[in-house]
This record gives sequence, C-alpha cells and structure tokens, in this order.
Amino acid sequence: MSDTNKKNVKLRSAEWFGTQDKNGFMYRSWMKNQGIPDHEFQGKPIIGICNTWSELTPCNAHFRKLAEHVKRGIIEAGGWPVEFPVFSNGESNLRPTAMLTRNLASMDVEESIRGNPMDAVVLLVGCDKTTPALLMGAASVDVPTIVVTGGPMLNGKLKGKDIGSGTAVWQLHEEVKAGTLSMHEFMAAEAGHSRSAGTCNTMGTASTMACMAEALGTSLPHNAAIPAVDARRYVLAHMSGMRIVEMVWEDLRLSKVLTREAFENAIRVNAAIGGSTNAVIHLKAIAGRIGVELELEDWTRVGRGTPTLVDLLPSGRFLMEEFFYAGGLPGVLRRMGEGGLLPHKDALTVNGQSIWANVVDAPIYDDEVIRPLSNPLIQDGAICVLRGNLAPRGAVLKPSAATPALMQHRGRAVVFENFEHYKSRINDPELAVDANSVLVMKNCGPKGYPGMAEVGNMGLPPKLLAAGVKDMVRISDARMSGTAYGTVVLHVAPEAAAGGPLGAVQDGDWIELDCAGGRLNLDIPEAELAARLAAREQAGGNAMKGGYQRLYVDHVLQADEGCDFDFLVGSRGSAVPRHSH
Ligand code: FES
Ligand code: MG
Repeated sequence: MSDTNKKNVKLRSAEWFGTQDKNGFMYRSWMKNQGIPDHEFQGKPIIGICNTWSELTPCNAHFRKLAEHVKRGIIEAGGWPVEFPVFSNGESNLRPTAMLTRNLASMDVEESIRGNPMDAVVLLVGCDKTTPALLMGAASVDVPTIVVTGGPMLNGKLKGKDIGSGTAVWQLHEEVKAGTLSMHEFMAAEAGHSRSAGTCNTMGTASTMACMAEALGTSLPHNAAIPAVDARRYVLAHMSGMRIVEMVWEDLRLSKVLTREAFENAIRVNAAIGGSTNAVIHLKAIAGRIGVELELEDWTRVGRGTPTLVDLLPSGRFLMEEFFYAGGLPGVLRRMGEGGLLPHKDALTVNGQSIWANVVDAPIYDDEVIRPLSNPLIQDGAICVLRGNLAPRGAVLKPSAATPALMQHRGRAVVFENFEHYKSRINDPELAVDANSVLVMKNCGPKGYPGMAEVGNMGLPPKLLAAGVKDMVRISDARMSGTAYGTVVLHVAPEAAAGGPLGAVQDGDWIELDCAGGRLNLDIPEAELAARLAAREQAGGNAMKGGYQRLYVDHVLQADEGCDFDFLVGSRGSAVPRHSH
C-alpha cells in the first residue's frame, strides 16, 4: 500500500491513542501493562480479533491457536492485534437453544467494536450461530471486516465407515428406535463421531454459514472448507491477518462487500451446496443490519432453478473433508459461473477482487463430490418458500433433504401442542397415525419455545419406523438442524405463540402441501379458522418472566424477518463515542 493512501486514511484508533494529553495517556498507559512498546501506538492500524473461543463451544475450542496465526499476519503487515472475547454460542450445549442468544452475541460484538480502539476486525467464527451473530454485530458498526472460520472436523468414523456430524445421530437413533441397532453400537458411534477439532463436518448450519460467508465475499477464498486441523487453515488465518491491515488503508468496509448482489449470489450458492434452512433466517438478519432489502420470496425468485451440485450429507453422500479435497467452494462457484448460475460475478470480496476473479481458474478434482451441471444431485435445490392460510407470512422447506413424492401431499394432521406434548405422545403405540399423516407441532417458534429451537424434524413414531416408513410430512414453527433431513416444513410464520393459524390446527384436519406451487393450506373453511383462532387462548409460552428471555420475547421478530430484535435492525455506524473520562 502506498504511503499516499496511508496519509488519506484517518485511523479510528487515533481517537484513543493519537494525542499527547490526559486522554491519550489513559488509553495508552493501561494498555502498556501488557508489555506493548510505545511505537505500536504510533499510527499502526489496530485490528480487533473477535474471538468466540470457549470450552463450552467445542467446535470453537481451538480458536486461541487460530487467533495466534491471525496475529502473526497482522503484525507482519504492519498492524497491531488486539484479541477480545465475545459471547460464544455453542450449538451442542446451550439450552433451550443457541438461537436464543444469537442476538445477544451480536449486541456484544457491536458494542465491543464500537466502544473500543480498533480500525478493523477479524471475526473468528465456527459453530452455527457464531457466524451470523458476529456478522450481524460487525454489520451494525461497518468497519473493515474479514471472517476467519475455524473449519470443519475430520470425517466421523464408525466401524471403519464415515459418519457425518449430527446426521448420524438422527439416523442411528431412528435405527435404535426401530430395533435394528444395539445401544452398544450407538455408543461406539458417539466416540467416533467428533474426533478432531472443528465444526460439524456435514453440510449443516455451520458449514452452510461458512459457505455463505465465503459466497458473500466476507472471507478469503477456501475459508469455508479447509479442515480445522489442516495446516492450510492456519495459513489462511495468517493471510487474513495480513489482508485486514490492507483493508484499513483501502477503507474496504463491510457495507462495500455486503451488497444486495452479494446476498443474491449467496442465495444461489445455498441451493448449489444443499445448504441449511437456517441460512434463510441468518441472511435476512445480516442483510437487515447492513440495510439490504431481502425478502423471503427472494429465495424462490433468485434461487429457483439452481441445481444442487455438492454431494454432501445430509442431502447427499460425502463430508466437508472430501469437499475441500475436491476443490471447495471456489470449485462450486466456478461451475456455477460457467453455467450462468452466479448472478453477480463482479461482486466485490474482501481480498479486493471480484468473486469471479477469485474462482475463474479454481480446480475441481472430484466430480462425485462437486458434481457437474450435467449431473446434479437435485435438479432444483432452491429453498421452497410456502404460503397459504396456514402460513400467511411464509414457511420453508429444503428440497434436497426431502422425499420428492411427499413434496406434493395431502394428509390428516396429528397435532402436538408443544415439544413436550410431542415427546409424551410419539412413542404411544395407540397414537392414531399412519404414513400419510402430517405431524404438526405448535409453540416452538421464536417467542413460543423461546428461541425457535431445532426441533422441527420430529422423529417418526416407532411403530411406523418399525414398519419401514422413512419419512413423513412434518410442519412446525420451529427450525431444524442443518444436519437433519426429511420432508419438513419449518419457520411457519406467524408462529402459534404469536397468534398464527398454526395454533388453530386440530387432530384430523386435512392439510395440503404443494412445494412446486409454493402452497401450504389448512383445508377448513375460512370462517371456521377465524372462529378457532378467536376462541383460542394465547399460550403463555415457556419464557422466563424476567431477564434476557423477557427482552427476547418482547422484541424478537418473526422468522420471515430473520428473528432479529426489532431495535437492532440497521447499521448504527462506527462513529467514536465520547470520552469515558
Ligand atoms: Fe457446533 Fe455443529 S454443533 S458446528
Ligand atoms: Mg444446529
């Protein structure tokens, strides 16, 4: 970077460290207790490293080492790194759901960046909610930002065969319930399922959001797929550290990368990778923070007709390790671009180049894993957006994980008032249910659960599993894990706990699902539906009466709006707050 450019950029951090007065003394002096020499405060870009490391977020537990490599890059490029922790959303441990605290983490990120001396930020993300939470928070400040993902785990192993994170749990548990797998083998799977550092190795939500971050242009190429324990992951961290310093001098803010065009690219990529339905909610929330209009219908309008090319579990066969070895996301982007499926090739990415320039020569080493357009896994992998009297503000279904024959279905409802009601009834041999029934669960949405837990892929009744039934239509206002599969209608909005018509469904009602037509209908007269809704007592929900859960329930937006808090939507900028003393 030329010195002229450097002269033109006024460092934000100079508002703390750039004066020889009482304030400058205070800001520098306390920092110096860490052994930082004075010359580090003399005009170097100060780069925040926003770390979601936590031993309670096992997917991000290797992040202190990752941060060290980012620091090396920052120092090499002439910046000074300052690492700071933020709330870490661990998907596997956090109850009632890590989604409840996504917005909390985003607030932590936003205020940490704005209130502290930094010119740019590196976001260390991995486990599902950490990626959207940090991008949301950073977008609301809009300083130069680069994402470094922790990378996926190595393939899981059971009896010499690969098993995929999460997906294996759903599968093997159904086998236990059907009586075809022993508890001993189930426990053996537990030991080999998560055998290295990193995030879920399936195309679950973590891998999906890592791909989204790369497709949006917020990371360096290949960030999504390099395994967590591969040395190249640490090289990428180092290079990202070097690059973020240049981004300060170029004033390459997040808003220059996160454009409407970038989101349209990402929507297409989600279809091509067979990505998680959670991306629908998270992209909306991120877009809302940076001021980009994104509607639920965009997932159909932009995404429709995009084939699923990546053959990964839960939709296909392979895992993230194979995906990286096959060419990773750059390989997919190249195939998409060559097939006219990358709508905005000139979208800017954090390395200063367009997304197309980054991938135009990307090699593809395995056509089984990254399939050619002539042989896709699914012809149209775009998320189905459904509307109808059962979901006036929409619902979604992931076609690559569904059973084609069930995507056009009419069946009678078997209704569960909430998750506990489902669990208490599903194993009952007397439950009036058959393979054509539609399982309906209420009160699992943002306000109802609270936090919209990943319980939408309700396990099937054991008696049907034992009879060989593999899939049924399921409908709820919940989310489902990106590692899950089935003909599962999710994110029904408005949710039952917000007065949505889902709350009015009764046992035996006919429900019609038409994915091609984008329809989800409860087959009762409108007057009857209105009468039922009027008579219905509003469920109190399961939220605590006070604390953060109170704030959450009072302010969370519905799924079609990204489940952000109403007061957090938008970017509030990076203006330096007034002095603290
Ligand atoms: Fe953390 Fe899947 S549980 S990435
Ligand atoms: Mg999950």
